[in-house]
Amino acid sequence: MRRTLDGMVVIITGASAGIGRALAENLSGRGARLVLAARRLDRLEELNRALGGRHLCVRTDVSRREECEGLIIAAADHFGRIDTLVCNAGYGILRPVAETTPQQMQDIFQANVFGTVDCVRAAVPHMLKREPAGGWRGQVMIVSSAVARRGIPYFGAYSATKAAQLALAEAMRVELRPRGIAVTSVHPIGTDTEFGEAAERRAGGGRIGRVPGEVRQSAGRVARAMARAIERPVPEVWPFAPSRWALSLATLVPRLVDRVMAKRVTVEHPTAPRRA
Ligand SMILES: NC(=O)c1ccc[n+]([C@@H]2O[C@H](COP(=O)([O-])OP(=O)(O)OC[C@H]3O[C@@H](n4cnc5c(N)ncnc54)[C@H](OP(=O)(O)O)[C@@H]3O)[C@@H](O)[C@H]2O)c1
Repeated sequence: MRRTLDGMVVIITGASAGIGRALAENLSGRGARLVLAARRLDRLEELNRALGGRHLCVRTDVSRREECEGLIIAAADHFGRIDTLVCNAGYGILRPVAETTPQQMQDIFQANVFGTVDCVRAAVPHMLKREPAGGWRGQVMIVSSAVARRGIPYFGAYSATKAAQLALAEAMRVELRPRGIAVTSVHPIGTDTEFGEAAERRAGGGRIGRVPGEVRQSAGRVARAMARAIERPVPEVWPFAPSRWALSLATLVPRLVDRVMAKRVTVEHPTAPRRA
């Protein structure tokens, strides 16, 4: 069954840039009523103006539980209901695992994993109050990553948060389906957004090398795939379909994949091995 985007109330965390912003543009153009959340309120307000000014902007740091709860309350008070929660806010850090400080490790889990759970916990009771529409009372969509299926070197902490999001989504999908709530995880490959700059800023002097022949996608392409899965919920969204099969097969041959990654993933990091 198909859910109607026109009039749907959708909360998007991390709407101030990249994939979240592209999704907001896509859904707004199709009549959805949006709650735009991120830390940079000025960016959210500028986006809202560009989209006609009918959405709600809520300054939110998802690494603070009380702000996640405040976001959900603000959305329900303003629009009277919540149809879809998109947990998209997140960041990466370019660091070898053994050199990631305890604080960096805690911070990235706090934002990417606990921020997701804190929003979900607050939003689900509101969805359960709704009568089903298009077959569902509501939907939780979690923007994980292709790296949820296979951790990548120098992004170990980040990969771990994305794997944790996938595990949570898989469990919730089964828990919430009988209660009428769809759960969808999203698994983009490298996407052209501000993500790389943010990861490098946190890298302590590191830079991500370009992988020869690497396929990248636009935020618009990811957003289109997400919008389709908001209309017709599916368990997983892989905007670049071949990555789904390649990574599933990769789990069967870890030694081979280690070798390929050692050759192809290059970073300029003070502690990365130098190659001739
Ligand atoms: N780009 C990729 O290659 C790629 C690939 C796979 C998955 N993803 C995932 O896609 C999602 C979006 O990333 P992107 O590529 O669009 O990156 P981006 O352009 O850097 O956007 C990240 C968004 O998350 C928000 N954010 C970060 N920390 C936050 C916090 N503590 N509280 C609230 N908002 C926060 C940022 O807003 P503020 O700074 O204004 O708070 C921004 O709106 C992330 O979960 C990322 O892991 C990205």
